[in-house]
Amino acid sequence: MSETQAIEQVLVLVKPDGVARGLIGQVIGRAEARGYKVARLELRQATAELLAEHYAEHAAKPFYPALVEYMTAGPVVAMVLEGAQVITAFRAMAGATDPVKAAPGTIRGDFGRDWGTGEIQNIVHASDSPESAAREIAIWFPEA
Ligand code: RTP
Ligand code: MG
Repeated sequence: MSETQAIEQVLVLVKPDGVARGLIGQVIGRAEARGYKVARLELRQATAELLAEHYAEHAAKPFYPALVEYMTAGPVVAMVLEGAQVITAFRAMAGATDPVKAAPGTIRGDFGRDWGTGEIQNIVHASDSPESAAREIAIWFPEA
């Protein structure tokens, strides 16, 4: 049987807590172990302007100021992963948004916790649809 499924791309971020805790390798390693290709990779400092684009859907939410503070607390690793159905697969690997509820075996469920700060720190971001992936990849890798 030949592979006819369209190759997908997903934007993944190792968030500042993941970078500070030395989990870059765990995230990339899990993606590679699963067989996905790392197509782009960069360590960088997010700005409030870039996050306003990236998290536009959350701009009016009460947690937004804390989210920007969290996401600018240190560098992030931005990457593009590639492979058939990688968006669905990597979202499953990331686990539920709240690491307390994330299943063991997921990135958030294996490495995350409630730090008692009142905000969710959950190690990774991953695009949630092909439309989001295209939009987010254009924001983080405009030259691509
Ligand atoms: P992400 O976009 O970062 O991959 O996370 P997600 O899809 O699982 O969750 P989403 O609803 O898009 O929320 C984006 C990020 O905002 C923070 N958040 N805090 N305090 C809160 O209730 C709350 N809700 C969301 C988290 O960092 C979440 O990942
Ligand atoms: Mg999201």
